[in-house]
Amino acid sequence: MSAHLPAGRKVRYGGDYNPEQWPREVWEADHAAFDLASIDTVTLNVFSWATLQPDEDTYDFALLDAIVERAVAAGRDVVLATSTGALPPWLAHRHPEVERTDFQGRRHVYGQRHNACPSSPVYRRLSAELAGRLAERYAGTPGLVAWHVGNEYGGFDGGCWCDLCAAGFREWLRARYGTLERLNDAWNAAFWSHTFSDWEQVVPPNMLSEHWRGPDHTAFQGITLDYRRFMSDAMLANYRDEKERIRAHDATTPVTTNFMGMFRPIDYHRWADDLDFASWDNYPPGQREHARMALAHDVVRGLKDGAPFWVMEQTPTITASRDVNPVKRPGVLRLWSWQAVAHGADAVLYFQMRQSKGACEKYHGAVLDHAGRTDTRAFREVAALGAELDALGDAVLGARTPARVALLFDWDSWWAAEMTDGFNRHARYVDTVLAYYRALWQAGAQVDVVPVTADLSRYDVVLAPMLHVLKGDVADRLEGVVARGGSVLASYWSGRADVDANAFLMDAPGPLGRLFGLRVEETDSAEPGVTNPVTLKDGAGDDAVAAASLVFEVLVPEGAEVVGTYGAEFYAGTPAVTRHRPGGHDGGEDGGEAWYVATALDDAGVAWVVRRVLGRHGLVGPYADTDDVELAVREGADGARTAFVLNHRSDAVDVAAHASGTDLLTGRAVVAGETLHLEPTDVVVLREDPQR
Ligand code: GAL
Repeated sequence: MSAHLPAGRKVRYGGDYNPEQWPREVWEADHAAFDLASIDTVTLNVFSWATLQPDEDTYDFALLDAIVERAVAAGRDVVLATSTGALPPWLAHRHPEVERTDFQGRRHVYGQRHNACPSSPVYRRLSAELAGRLAERYAGTPGLVAWHVGNEYGGFDGGCWCDLCAAGFREWLRARYGTLERLNDAWNAAFWSHTFSDWEQVVPPNMLSEHWRGPDHTAFQGITLDYRRFMSDAMLANYRDEKERIRAHDATTPVTTNFMGMFRPIDYHRWADDLDFASWDNYPPGQREHARMALAHDVVRGLKDGAPFWVMEQTPTITASRDVNPVKRPGVLRLWSWQAVAHGADAVLYFQMRQSKGACEKYHGAVLDHAGRTDTRAFREVAALGAELDALGDAVLGARTPARVALLFDWDSWWAAEMTDGFNRHARYVDTVLAYYRALWQAGAQVDVVPVTADLSRYDVVLAPMLHVLKGDVADRLEGVVARGGSVLASYWSGRADVDANAFLMDAPGPLGRLFGLRVEETDSAEPGVTNPVTLKDGAGDDAVAAASLVFEVLVPEGAEVVGTYGAEFYAGTPAVTRHRPGGHDGGEDGGEAWYVATALDDAGVAWVVRRVLGRHGLVGPYADTDDVELAVREGADGARTAFVLNHRSDAVDVAAHASGTDLLTGRAVVAGETLHLEPTDVVVLREDPQR
């Protein structure tokens, strides 16, 4: 799954620029300001379909020509979008079936964006045609560095449930199952008399069909799981339609679309092969989401097997879509941007370069505000970061994360675990993954977040939090990690369901039972806030008590040793955390370990377990004990290592430098062991001296 990134000489800097919204005199001022901020790349034409094609038979590129020309004349590189993320009014008026039908079953009328039905032949024809015409016209434009197809696919509520999609779903099912017998078997259709005797009887699972209370409550997980896979593929087909037409005129310029990180409706792993490089829009839900952002960067980097990616959008100041939209505090924009670079971003771009005049994003943050001022705090911070990225030059371009730890991320598990009745609706997939990732992050471990199909042979440690759905040979490959001396860690609800979301006809955790040396006999649940103390003992005297909550699996060890025990309930004294050495206790140094955590431990408890797993492989980092100081490393093809030390704390901190090298932002020489003083939100970019 090789990546093809736009060539460049430095980390790209710039963002979405929509000059079609204001008069041409303003364009001049915009470009003059961009020069002050070292802006080298602009994304044009994200939402202009109505202007580019005023009716079905007319195309008009005059305005876009002028915008592109002006950007090129200013020496800017251009990412050209295809404008198909929002329908023009005439199209919806003339062909109402292009409008999506929502989860309630209501066909929408014209409005908003991300509003097309992905199965509509008219949408497919006209979006591909527009992409083709744009490529025909702008291929070869000097400075054109990438194509940006559509925008944030699935961004409305994740899809469409209309009759055209129903027909597409039936076709998709025929291709997957071939016969109705296999379909009925996969869906366990004998339950509630659902045996289908004709493909035409299948309808999209929505609030008029299998669902109640919303997308997570379905009578048939198998049907809903397949519909989500189908919808993900239907939108991917839209992307492919456009990419194919672009390729007819432009054989080489990389093509991508902007993802949303951990976005539930679309399985980005199903898309990864079709992207030349991955990109995403970083809008964290809160102000203190450092570990979550790091995880999302790593998910995106994992789409292309560790190749660098782009941050296609982030706000310089505020978002507009939340109920409360706080500004980024001084230094935060810089810190989060460097964090992105630290995790593999080769571009840091904004939404938006200049603030919209009207509509719902008119107060959304921008590099330039409505007055076009360059003497604001925001502009000064943007310009200062631009200068730093200039100074960094090509030092980390193309460099990768030297990860010895893999974390499995799986959309099928996410979907299936969260739409399953019977356990605890409060235990969520991303919360669980994040709990484990946060412990890795704080420990300073370099982590690849990978699909379950990834090659695991290059990792010492593999984590599988809530790996609810077990597909393919993943159980065998996890066994392989332990067989060669590695460590595997899984949490509750792993190994519960097969690829169709049906339970395995065996003890939980299904095919993982052998590896972990245990079986799950019962699964207890509790309301949020109810805790059960788990005593953790490592045999070396470093014992701890963690608060466990939400899910409490009752385990029967079958070879595993007990590391943690519940302190309350009828299962007090029984195992909550176990470690299995399939090679036996005397398996020697080479024997690997399989850890199982049967409950949702608090952060300290997760960290206690994760540090032991990492510790075995010498993977606990140098700043692990300084809360919220992050270490992320990129390594070039020549072995040159650049370490990013990021202070996410609101106070200053001193740490002992882990290596000698040069701080690329100040030019200062750093000697291993000397005190690194980091102000709040501060960043050190240390080019490490080569190890002799
Ligand atoms: C993104 C979107 C942009 C803009 C931005 C505002 O999700 O791609 O077009 O709407 O959010 O935060």
